[in-house]
Amino acid sequence: MNSIKELSKPVKIQSGFMKDVKLGLSSQSKYLPSKYFYDEKGDELFRRITELPEYYLTRSEYAILKEHASEIMSVMDTKKPFRLVELGAGDGMKTKVLLNHLLEAGYNFTYVPIDISGNALELLQEDMEDEFLSLQIETVQGEYLNALSRSLFKDDQVSFVLFLGSSIGNFSIDETEGFFEALSEALKPGDYLLTGWDLQKNPHTILAAYNDSKGVTRDFNLNLLSRINSELGGDIDVSNFTHYPVYDPETGFAKSYLVANSAATYRISDLDLTVKFEAGESIFMEISRKYTQEYIHHIAQSSGFSQTGSWQDKKSYFIDTLWRRT
Ligand code: AVJ
Repeated sequence: MNSIKELSKPVKIQSGFMKDVKLGLSSQSKYLPSKYFYDEKGDELFRRITELPEYYLTRSEYAILKEHASEIMSVMDTKKPFRLVELGAGDGMKTKVLLNHLLEAGYNFTYVPIDISGNALELLQEDMEDEFLSLQIETVQGEYLNALSRSLFKDDQVSFVLFLGSSIGNFSIDETEGFFEALSEALKPGDYLLTGWDLQKNPHTILAAYNDSKGVTRDFNLNLLSRINSELGGDIDVSNFTHYPVYDPETGFAKSYLVANSAATYRISDLDLTVKFEAGESIFMEISRKYTQEYIHHIAQSSGFSQTGSWQDKKSYFIDTLWRRT
């Protein structure tokens, strides 16, 4: 077990959750950070989202990695040990494609998955150890922005960082720039970063991915209200809220809101907080940003990386870019 795991699990995440919920629900325009979607129920709902016909992201990236794993990994030396650090590993479905290739080709590496969800990490570790008997794995539980400490990127080994699934899409504009700058700072010249980005495309296609017909995405959003009830002693009537996803093709921002159907007052006892809603008032829940290749190039350059390759699926829905820390 990694020491970071023991330190960050009980302290950081829980207190961050309380503080962030209090801040978000007492703000003028209410919001809740989407990183808190991922409790045990949320992990499972997200896994179901990735299998929905409307949610093209996971399938598109899976196809990219499947087809190009060997070319993507060919920048690494098969004999030199390296660290394959994954930010936001989730269930590792897409990562397995890369792991499979690396093990078959005889690469010498340690897999270091980092995830905010301790639950997801435990499942991942068991599953990976079952499937890949010879895999060296070191799990780290925490938020990846916090986990970007120097110690993760051992100086004597090259790091190959995976940031897949358009997880970056959940970051605000400021967070995005800050994130790549912090990552660049933590890495050393010659390290690599493979990032998955959801590209701008027909707005109908994008909106449908966040407005699925089975209502799984709705439940995924509502689950955060249930989590506040069960973990923070809230009495929010979850059935008073409607899922409202929007997509703005001008900015490439997909956003999700929960709208209160009728006026209501709720109490969250652990936060000593009373929250009042007007009828029709919304809570901003998530941003899932969509990108242009121009923007991606710009952010690479402005944060100290040079792009050494990029791969798209057949429909050009999704792109994976490989950057080298300069
Ligand atoms: C895991 C952040 C990539 O924004 O598309 C899926 C999460 N939210 N459906 C995304 C999500 C609603 C997903 N990411």
